[in-house]
Amino acid sequence: MNSDDFAVISSLVKGTSGLVLTPEKTYLVESRLNPIAVRRNVGSLQALVAQVRRGGDPALKREIIEAMTTNESFFFRDKTPFDNFREKVLPELLKVKAHRRSLRIWCAAASHGQEPYSLAMILKEEEMKLRGWTVEILATDLATTVIERARIGLYSQFEVQRGMPIQMMIRHFTEVGDMWQVSQDIRSMVTFKPFNLLESYASLGIFDVIFCRNVLIYFDQETKADVLNRLAGALPEHGTLCLGSAETVIGLCPKFRPLPGQRGMYGLESRVQEAI
Ligand SMILES: C[S@@+](CC[C@H](N)C(=O)[O-])C[C@H]1O[C@@H](n2cnc3c(N)ncnc32)[C@H](O)[C@@H]1O
Repeated sequence: MNSDDFAVISSLVKGTSGLVLTPEKTYLVESRLNPIAVRRNVGSLQALVAQVRRGGDPALKREIIEAMTTNESFFFRDKTPFDNFREKVLPELLKVKAHRRSLRIWCAAASHGQEPYSLAMILKEEEMKLRGWTVEILATDLATTVIERARIGLYSQFEVQRGMPIQMMIRHFTEVGDMWQVSQDIRSMVTFKPFNLLESYASLGIFDVIFCRNVLIYFDQETKADVLNRLAGALPEHGTLCLGSAETVIGLCPKFRPLPGQRGMYGLESRVQEAI
């Protein structure tokens, strides 16, 4: 792929999704786009990029953008955020929201669903404490293909074994052929929908907890700061933001402060100041 063609693709991907592709990723772009050129029978990558240049085919653009996303995820990824959620965030919310008896959680880059289903399994196991509560887990991702797969909740043996305590697997999964499916009970706790983090969050409402993990790493500083600022606007005073282990708010969004003793968790500045 020549540098002009690469520039067309990287500008399409960055402009639509925020994902930054640097020239060292040329090989990756080629390997992800070649199957699209074959599927569409256009003859070559050059011909595919020429179609993009001509514009006018939104489905092709979407296919290219989705192909450039990295959808790596696994159940209870990094363990600590989920332990913190169970042991610190949830008990605190049970107190703060006792009068309203409602919880709203948003997984903002949910990929194949392992993250929202991990949270749903935790909430299911704490259901005695949540009796009479309305609990909502919204799971969104830019890529519609991953959202479709997440809804079905079907995983390979490798995927269910990776990071998930065996008791959880036994309790919440059923064997379907050589795959494992999340129980209907757990699936019904999560609402999946396609959503681009570059769009306005106004239609989604306010959340007590936002998991936005391992997506900011793919954005430039300006996009990271913009997304963090707008996530702050989707949290109430007591809200918690959870980021990936290689992500931070520091130097990007002064509205957030790390929550002491809860690695990867952030609260709004006003709340953290009050607690210190
Ligand atoms: C590496 S996965 C992270 C999955 C999960 N949060 C985790 O930590 O295991 C990153 C996800 O971000 C999604 N993504 C990339 N750009 C996005 C955007 N602009 N809006 C929403 N999701 C996006 C990708 O489709 C991908 O599924």
